[in-house]
Order: sequence, then structure tokens, then C-alpha cells
Amino acid sequence: MVHLFSPIDVRGVNIRNRIVMSPMCMYSAEDGHVTHWHLVHYVSRAVGGAGLIILEATAVEERGRISPLDLGIYRDDHVDGLAKLVDLCKKYGAAVGIQLAHAGRKAEDYPPWERSVRKVRGSKHAIAPSPLPFGKNWTIPREMSVEDIKEVQGSYRNAVKRAVEAGFDIIEIHAAHGYLIHEFLSPVSNKRKDQYGGSFENRVRFLLEVVRIARSEMPDSMPLWVRISSVDYVEGGWTLEESVELAKILKKEGVDVIDCSSGRIVEDEPFGEYPGHQVPFAERIKREAGVLTQAVGMITSYELAQEIVANGRADFVAIGREFLRDPYLPVRWAQKAGVKGMVPRQYLRAW
Ligand SMILES: Cc1cc2nc3c(=O)[nH]c(=O)nc-3n(C[C@H](O)[C@H](O)[C@H](O)COP(=O)(O)O)c2cc1C
Repeated sequence: MVHLFSPIDVRGVNIRNRIVMSPMCMYSAEDGHVTHWHLVHYVSRAVGGAGLIILEATAVEERGRISPLDLGIYRDDHVDGLAKLVDLCKKYGAAVGIQLAHAGRKAEDYPPWERSVRKVRGSKHAIAPSPLPFGKNWTIPREMSVEDIKEVQGSYRNAVKRAVEAGFDIIEIHAAHGYLIHEFLSPVSNKRKDQYGGSFENRVRFLLEVVRIARSEMPDSMPLWVRISSVDYVEGGWTLEESVELAKILKKEGVDVIDCSSGRIVEDEPFGEYPGHQVPFAERIKREAGVLTQAVGMITSYELAQEIVANGRADFVAIGREFLRDPYLPVRWAQKAGVKGMVPRQYLRAW
């Protein structure tokens, strides 16, 4: 039986268990660079037993940042800090990934704690497939030309090269949560009349081209994850059926794992959270597309995490906020599961 603590090999990368630290923005970077905060924060989760740590949304372009405090991988001088962070996390047994991101129309030019006092949110540099704002009080983004599309894809290429150079084990492409790639996928935000809008084939084109670029720059031995919003919770939005079709295509293109989140294509959406609420998406995509999946969303107990993996509903469970509450979550869950050898030697007297 597959267990939450069963190791898994993806393209030869060994991941010690199925517990993934979900990507979470820390808003602690300086000019895109890794700071001491990132070292302490991520390395603690490696010591705490995470199988895979996926670094927060890391901008492939300066104008694609969710905030000016995002990590960046849009210049060569960002690589050293990332490489040091990767090295330390690996030293403590975790595999490490980077989430490559572009915020599109959700880019913002100020720190997140200023959001609530802003009359108009967004960035004057924001670009998107169509000139439609994310919400009522948001800047209208500039519609991307085909040249803009090629330029952004060039930035993804450079970011992938830098991620390989920094020594990451895996790369995740952020195609969820209403950011640039999701904006191309969803008919709600993509009203283009050219080859990048309209039909399903056209809306997925931007992502597929990014995936091909990524695969062409990554060694065969390096796995590729894609995070999607499996459904939009709005009329006329992206559907779960489209996610299944997309997953089949991505698998053929060399994507190894579909990370199944949901929603956030518009500001005003009925988004209900409860334990395991996105697991059915991971389960259906896994079953119908025959691809490895990662479930995420309020997976806060060992029992739920184990149920998801052992019943074959997903191959990985990504943990977000519970990992912010407890860096040693996998060690605690291992105790519950009776799995030995997870407690760091230095901490044994406490267990
Ligand atoms: C502080 C914070 C920052 C986040 N940043 C990102 C991010 O950079 N990329 C991403 O895909 N999701 C991000 N998320 C979403 C999480 O990865 C996760 O999908 C979500 O929190 C649901 O999982 P949970 O219920 O275990 O927290 C963030 C969530 C939180 C709480």
C-alpha cells in the first residue's frame, strides 16, 4: 500500500515522502533576492521533514511581481541566493522546487499590507491577455501583443535556465489563481480574437508554449509540475472537464505532476473552503488523465493526508497554512503513523 511516508521517484528524483510544502509568498525579498528570512523559513521545513518544498511564486519578470517584495529570478544575480537556499534545504533531506510565476493583471507595486488602504489596486505596468481588470477597483491592464507574448515567454526561458543553474530538483509553473497563465486559460479574462484566445486550443496555447520552452531547457532528469486552478467559480469560466483535457495534453508534453488548486480568476467569486475541498479535482484529473496529481487545500490532519494518498486520490498532498503554524508537521505526523527516523538527532530528547 502507498503511504503518506512512502518515498517516490519522479524522473529519478527521490522524494522522501508525499508531504509537500505548498508555495507561499513570504513578501520578504529585497529587490527579488533571497534574504535571511527565506533561509530560516524554508530550511526549518526541511529539518521538519517535508518531502518537497516548493518555493513561493518567484517572478520571471520584474513587472510580473505580485508585490515588490516577491522573490525574483529575472536577473542572473538572483541565482546565488537561490542556490544557497536550495543547497541548505537539500542538506536536510528535502527535495526543492521553485514556482515560476508572472502576476499578469494581478501585479501590484506596493507591499501587501498597503492593499487595504489603496483606492485603486494593481500596477501601472500590468499586462494581460485582454484589457480587463481583476476587480472593481483595479487598474486596467495593457493588452499583450504577440511580441509581448514572445517577450514574456523569453523571460520564462531565462528563468528556467537560472532555476536549473541554481540546482532546484523540480520546477513548478504557476498557471493558477488568476495570474498571467490562468488569465490566458480562462474565457472570463481572455477575450482575444487571435491564436491565443477563443477556443480551448487557443486559450491553452500560451501555457503549452511555456511548458515546451521549460522542457527544452530542463534536463530529462528534472521533473516539471504545473499548478492549475482546476475550476473557476464563475459563470462561463474554466471547467473541470477542460482541466482533464489540459492535463492529458500536459502529460504528453512532459509534465509530471498536476498540482490541483482552484479559483481566483476574479475578485468577486463564491470560494468556499473546507477540509479537502479541492481533493476531488486531483482525484478526477489523476483518474481520467492518468497523470500524477498533488492535492491541496485545508489538509490539516494526518488522517486526511493519509486517506488521500493511501486511497490513491492524489500522489502528493501540499500543505500551506498548517506548515506556517508548525514547521515540524511531518515529524509530528510520522509519530502518529509510527514511522521511525524522522526526528532530527538534535531534538530527540524532546520526543
Ligand atoms: C501566505 C500565503 C501565501 C501564498 N502564496 C502562494 C504562492 O506564492 N503560490 C501559490 O500557488 N499559492 C500560494 N498560496 C496558496 C497556498 O499554496 C495553498 O494553495 C492554499 O493556502 C491552500 O492550502 P492550505 O489550506 O493548506 O493553506 C499562498 C497561501 C498563503 C496562506
